[in-house]
Amino acid sequence: MARVRTGVLISGRGSNLQALLDAAASQDFPAEIVCVLSNRPGAGGLARAEAAGVTALTVDHKGFETREAFEDALHTELEHQGVELVCLAGFMRLLTPGFVNRWTGRMINIHPSLLPSFKGVDTHQRALDAGVKLTGASVHFVSAEMDAGPIIGQAAIPVLPGDNAEALAARVLGAEHQLYPECLRQVASGEARLVDGRVTLGHGAAPDARLVNPPARN
Ligand code: GRF
Repeated sequence: MARVRTGVLISGRGSNLQALLDAAASQDFPAEIVCVLSNRPGAGGLARAEAAGVTALTVDHKGFETREAFEDALHTELEHQGVELVCLAGFMRLLTPGFVNRWTGRMINIHPSLLPSFKGVDTHQRALDAGVKLTGASVHFVSAEMDAGPIIGQAAIPVLPGDNAEALAARVLGAEHQLYPECLRQVASGEARLVDGRVTLGHGAAPDARLVNPPARN
């Protein structure tokens, strides 16, 4: 089986990247991580890529006059590496519709909330402020509108009494590391299919799976 050549875009520590690298270390995994690109020099994730023997490159957005020029450089590098599928993993630059449209159906992102709630930044604090009792993470196809593309998968976790944004972020992150590789697997294998703007999963949760907060007592 030919594995889908996948590029990962990062800006920071790269713990989600690590989860993807770990999954893709198995030859059975349908995606191969062929390169990691960071817009920030020295991002922690670059060292993770190198440790896994994956090409790690920096395209510093500060070196470009315009967003478009930066994105052209990114695009050229991705093409040069023969990338077929892009994963955004803590990539902190907004992408223009011009770039996004070049990767329609071939670029996915992980966001730390149960979309469509809490798009954008500071998701955990906003979830706490809203008083939700469940939060989580979503993996979605990237569309021109931020955090609004078709949802591929979601992970839910309970909000606990006494949680602050940091504690919540840490528990959501654990769920992200479980969710993202499975979503990548389903997209790369073609199990997850994008039909009329919605995603059909190949393998989904059991019909009786539930996370209830508060749980029933008996
Ligand atoms: C994650 O919470 C991800 O959902 C968000 O940015 C964070 C990146 O963390 N988009 P890491 O760099 O993968 O550790």
